[in-house]
Amino acid sequence: MPKESVTPVRVAILGCGNVGAALVELLSDPARSGETADRSGIRIEIVGIAVNDLKRDRSSAPWFPSGLMTENAQKLVSDDSVDMVVELIGGVEPAKELIESALKLGKPVVSANKELLAQHGVELSALAEANGVDLNFEAAVAGAIPVIRTLRESLAGESITRVMGIVNGTTNFILSKMSDEGSEYADVLAEAMARGLAERDPTADVEGFDAAAKAAILAGLAFGCEIPLERVSREGISKVRSVDIAFARQFGYAIKLLAIAEKVGPKEISVRVHPAMVPLDHPLAQVGGSYNAVFIEGAAAGPLMLYGQGAGGMPTASAVLGDVIEAARNLVNKTAAPAAVRSLDREAVRIDDLRSAFYISLDVLDQPGVLAKVAKIYGDHNISIRSMEQVGLDDEARLIFLTHEATERDMAATIQELERSDVVDSVGGILRVVTSEESNGS
Ligand code: HSE
Repeated sequence: MPKESVTPVRVAILGCGNVGAALVELLSDPARSGETADRSGIRIEIVGIAVNDLKRDRSSAPWFPSGLMTENAQKLVSDDSVDMVVELIGGVEPAKELIESALKLGKPVVSANKELLAQHGVELSALAEANGVDLNFEAAVAGAIPVIRTLRESLAGESITRVMGIVNGTTNFILSKMSDEGSEYADVLAEAMARGLAERDPTADVEGFDAAAKAAILAGLAFGCEIPLERVSREGISKVRSVDIAFARQFGYAIKLLAIAEKVGPKEISVRVHPAMVPLDHPLAQVGGSYNAVFIEGAAAGPLMLYGQGAGGMPTASAVLGDVIEAARNLVNKTAAPAAVRSLDREAVRIDDLRSAFYISLDVLDQPGVLAKVAKIYGDHNISIRSMEQVGLDDEARLIFLTHEATERDMAATIQELERSDVVDSVGGILRVVTSEESNGS
């Protein structure tokens, strides 16, 4: 079909930060939109852009269609000239209200909003379905990586057992640099902030909040459940020490911040974020710098891994544009995909009940009988030691243990007793180990 004859689908963009500006740039390039129209049969036209501040200087983006800007997002959503809404504001309100308005008006919505989708994905998906329009949110998890569409469509018939992702680029950058250079967390974070590679307030990234929201979204898609964010157990990377990274490597592991959504029983799902020791021959261990990757295990499909750029204006805008074109195709064909997430009868289990192998580093007195006392504490709590390494430190010794699988509850009780013991000076790094024999209960 010649591209000139394609009827445009008219889009309003709400929010024009990094991703919004990149999306406008992609859509304003005539060669690219011509190619898109040729490939997809769809022509996209921007008819309005809602921003917070009309006066912001955009002189560095001469292609920016300033005449289309407004500060009244609600009016733009309701305007008859708008066929579809792209929400790039972030946060829960006013994004939720605006999305609900658009869906109720029968306008498909594309959103990159992880906070909103993590907390209200089921409700908003149901509203989209009830109004016969699409709600697409590929860019909410792992930027350019097509993981939402993979779970929603390609793996729709798959019985998924576990999804493990490196879904935060900032923390992967920090851990990779600590590993490559032997530097400490605080130094690498300070450098990343100075170079603009980490946010001025890095808490959401380094303490795992960002990854927890993405883990909840992945769990919803993989297992048909709505996991309240407070049930996603979360531990960030601020306690990871370069010495633990070095020991982990010696034992054959890399340390990665993983977002894990796992089936641990017929209806029980575990969703968690924590640093983990990943075997060096596992594909996730090779994901360096600020790259993201999602490793999916399915009963029939076996393991799959998707890899790419998880953040940044252009990579994220690319995912948004794919969603826009898909929703536009459906709009033109007067159809819509079924709800992306449905809440089935599933329960988020507490981390206390989970089993993992552990890495524990202890600084102890270097005296006869110390090892026996420490070993007794493990044994008393039903924890079996897989291997142990001792390193001398003046009149102390550092003991590095790898355990067989144990419950979080038993491990927490062990750590408490180790901390109280008169032969233990300090309990250092404690890390969960991803093992090939790790049971996922399916
Ligand atoms: N701050 C995130 C990251 C990207 O570092 O990956 C947005 O989710």
